[in-house]
Amino acid sequence: MSTVDDTSVLGPAEIEAVTALARQYEARRGACIEALRIVQRSHGWISDERLREVARLLEMSPDELDGAATFYNLIFRRPVGRHVILICDSVSCWIMGYETLRDAFHTRLGVRLGETTTDGRFTLLPIVCLGACDHAPTIMIDDDLHHDVDAARLDALLERYP
Ligand code: FES
Repeated sequence: MSTVDDTSVLGPAEIEAVTALARQYEARRGACIEALRIVQRSHGWISDERLREVARLLEMSPDELDGAATFYNLIFRRPVGRHVILICDSVSCWIMGYETLRDAFHTRLGVRLGETTTDGRFTLLPIVCLGACDHAPTIMIDDDLHHDVDAARLDALLERYP
């Protein structure tokens, strides 16, 4: 049974959404990744406090939930920018120009992999194969998959993410 109290770091709507989701699973922990994604959509990342509260709602220990969150690389356990750029560094993308594309992002954004721009707009992260190898090089920005990415045309792409 979920409860909202004065110490909650989640909003009532988040608690309700996580609780409703958990009800769909025989074992509440089965909802763990989607529950974290619900919270991440509101806050951009999962702080320790929010992780503890989601764990409580799912009747898991914080360590168990943290383990699942760490394994799943689209759950962010540190603050990120308004938009997260994930660059695939697996083999097909590597062959098709990953290094050129990565270096173009470095130059254009002024950050290295793992960093956030000083204006808080973008975080740049590596990721393993995004499943679109036949259209490498491939990246994701937020929930959008972009393939056949041309390093010479980054400005037009980034303008879509203010
Ligand atoms: S190797 Fe990059 S999408 Fe598969």
